[in-house]
Amino acid sequence: MMRSRQRFLNNGYYQVLADGIIAAIHQTHLNLEQTLLDIGCGEGYYLNQLSDAAVNSEINLQLVGLDISKAGVRLAAKRKLSAQLIVDSAYKIPLFENSVDTALSVFSPLCPNETARVLKTDGILIMVGPGEEHLTGLTAHIYEQHEPHEGNFRTIDEHPNFSLQQQIEIKSVVTVNGPDIFDLLTMTPYYWHCTAEQQQQLSALDQLITPIHFYLRIYQKTRTN
Ligand SMILES: C[S@@+](CC[C@H](N)C(=O)[O-])C[C@H]1O[C@@H](n2cnc3c(N)ncnc32)[C@H](O)[C@@H]1O
Repeated sequence: MMRSRQRFLNNGYYQVLADGIIAAIHQTHLNLEQTLLDIGCGEGYYLNQLSDAAVNSEINLQLVGLDISKAGVRLAAKRKLSAQLIVDSAYKIPLFENSVDTALSVFSPLCPNETARVLKTDGILIMVGPGEEHLTGLTAHIYEQHEPHEGNFRTIDEHPNFSLQQQIEIKSVVTVNGPDIFDLLTMTPYYWHCTAEQQQQLSALDQLITPIHFYLRIYQKTRTN
């Protein structure tokens, strides 16, 4: 799954999302020196993008990636990026309280209490989840009717420490080349929902055209007294 995700992302299909995340960080940054924690960083694609973007920027990002998967963190480490990497759970982040300026969560589980604990007051949480049309070109081959993924914004929306500042919708259409279709399938939960026959049919396609659709939400950690 991690290798499929890495190959797929490295081919630039979600570049538009990476650009949106980088723009959000530039828009919200509080200090020129800041610590960014990618919670559920997987194999490190977004850390890598952020590290590259920081080279030409005035912001000095101290990058930290955390993921529960040792295999994911190992792949991230092989990217040789300038980041500290941690194998641990989003529900038990081994960092001091008030130590993180920006937390990032892209399609990953998030614990509101733990995230609030490590974030500085006024710190920013950037959370990315799927839009209603995300990968409908893929799911059309698997389901009669597309059921949009809910994402997990609700737990943050209901938490007293976070206030929603902005929601940015990111939408595009990608043409996935034949060999990359199976990687796309494998990196999603849809892999477990499709039959062997559907897998074969998808793998035999020359290309797959699909919308990609994301919501990027920017929250601020509010003061509580
Ligand atoms: C869908 S992947 C997203 C990975 C990466 N953010 C990306 O978009 O490429 C979800 C990630 O969450 C990680 N994960 C699952 N449960 C976790 C937990 N309790 N704590 C930290 N990471 C977790 C998985 O190992 C996986 O890397």
